[in-house]
Amino acid sequence: MKTRILSLAASAALALGSHCTLAQAAGVNRLVIRADQPGATISKHIYGHFSEHLGRCIYEGIWVGEDSPIPNTRGIRNDVVAALKRIKVPNLRWPGGCFADEYHWKDGIGPREKRPKIINTHWGGVVENNHFGTHEFMDFCEMIGAEPVVCGNVGSGTVQEMMEWVEYMTSDADSPMANLRRQNGREAPWKLRYFAVGNENWGCGGNMRPEYYADVYRRYNTFIKNYSGNRVYRIACGASDSDYRWTEVLMSQAARHMNGLSLHYYTLPTGSWSGSKGSATLFDEAQWFATLRRTLRMQEFVVKHSEIMDKHDPQKRVGLIVDEWGTWYDVEPGTNPGFLYQQNTLRDALVAGINLNIFNNHADRVKMANIAQMINVLQAVILTDKEKMLLTPTFHVFEMYTVHHDAKLLPTELTSADYEQGDAKIPGLSVSASRDGAGVLHVTVCNLNPNQPAELTCELRGAKPQNIAGRILTAETMQAHNTFDVQEKVKPATFSDCKLTDGGFSATLPAKSVVVLELR
Ligand code: AHR
Repeated sequence: MKTRILSLAASAALALGSHCTLAQAAGVNRLVIRADQPGATISKHIYGHFSEHLGRCIYEGIWVGEDSPIPNTRGIRNDVVAALKRIKVPNLRWPGGCFADEYHWKDGIGPREKRPKIINTHWGGVVENNHFGTHEFMDFCEMIGAEPVVCGNVGSGTVQEMMEWVEYMTSDADSPMANLRRQNGREAPWKLRYFAVGNENWGCGGNMRPEYYADVYRRYNTFIKNYSGNRVYRIACGASDSDYRWTEVLMSQAARHMNGLSLHYYTLPTGSWSGSKGSATLFDEAQWFATLRRTLRMQEFVVKHSEIMDKHDPQKRVGLIVDEWGTWYDVEPGTNPGFLYQQNTLRDALVAGINLNIFNNHADRVKMANIAQMINVLQAVILTDKEKMLLTPTFHVFEMYTVHHDAKLLPTELTSADYEQGDAKIPGLSVSASRDGAGVLHVTVCNLNPNQPAELTCELRGAKPQNIAGRILTAETMQAHNTFDVQEKVKPATFSDCKLTDGGFSATLPAKSVVVLELR
């Protein structure tokens, strides 16, 4: 049995009828890369991250305070900054998540010892001392070279509060909020391109109906000003999963007031928010399969929300911003259930590789995405244990995929053997391809099957590379992960089971692997 996957860009570019023979060669994986028909630019912002005041993401993960024995610069841990620079984090979303709609930004400015302590009612009911606020967040973004993505409080905040926050961050005038910023030690305004008007306002952000939120969005957005030459890219709260009505209403009633509309989709192995979601590390092949199958639903959500957006915005001016995605398992035994701390295995690497391939392949509409979350929460790229730090398999996928940042998407047509489990089946491979500014082609391929290697034959149209090289992320077991004691169990290695052919290349992709190929 075969499954055909066609990227959107490819479906526009290719005459499908001429490729029907591809599906006939049973057991063979065939790929056509249209280097002669480059598509949209893959925005580097697809590789964005998310940091919420949740569990140990901000506190300990990023912020340890200036007096900490953990080496830090102005309170921000040095090991984390150095690691994040390796994956070229393009943007960072903050302060939530659900926390955003109960965050009052003035609590987080001024002398730290005077900042009010509040209770983080969403996440564990712990004390939030507000030591990490606007200045610390902007400092962290500058250290790692990321653009800030600030999410404003619609659910429990006022229009005035949101308006003043933007003025505080971006105005150079002799005005009350700009002067307050100067009083707090920052003379020049920050550059703030991305600002989101609320988070999940259909749920934790206010339980609003789309018609109501569309009006609320229009009102709040009116007062977000472009101060001192700063131009704000305005992101409206979008749908969860398959809530297409939300997208329809927002696009029909508020599209002209926004630059981006968000989408949230988490991979739950069970597909259900109630009951156990399963362990991050103790799982069998059925759960591996279920997790990857549910990850592939991202394709369906991106396509269907995009179709609605296309109807209202055929020019594709409004970006689809997938600003929360990733795996969501049971927390690690013995940890606070409100902290959402989970380990990260080779399975998560596959989830990351598949999602990022989907976003790349829809780069004409997907302009930003943010994995949830950066450190110590959900599908983290970094885990810390006090002074210790480890890089997860997901980190390595982000590092391997940096080659796609701002590269031109190359449409692909993939015919792959299925990976079957019982009565169910999914495509055995996931792929995306791009050409960077220097003319180098990169192909990222995931082999979802944990038992079988995949022979891949690729026809490359419009390019004749002289060299092929590769890197691979795999491990002996599906459950392989890095621990604070054994930190490099899962890490990238050189991949050499690939060669150039007359019309392209061929490769043998090991079971359960993520591979990046470079053709120059
Ligand atoms: O990422 C954890 C939570 O998931 C976020 O706070 C919320 O937006 C989503 O429901």
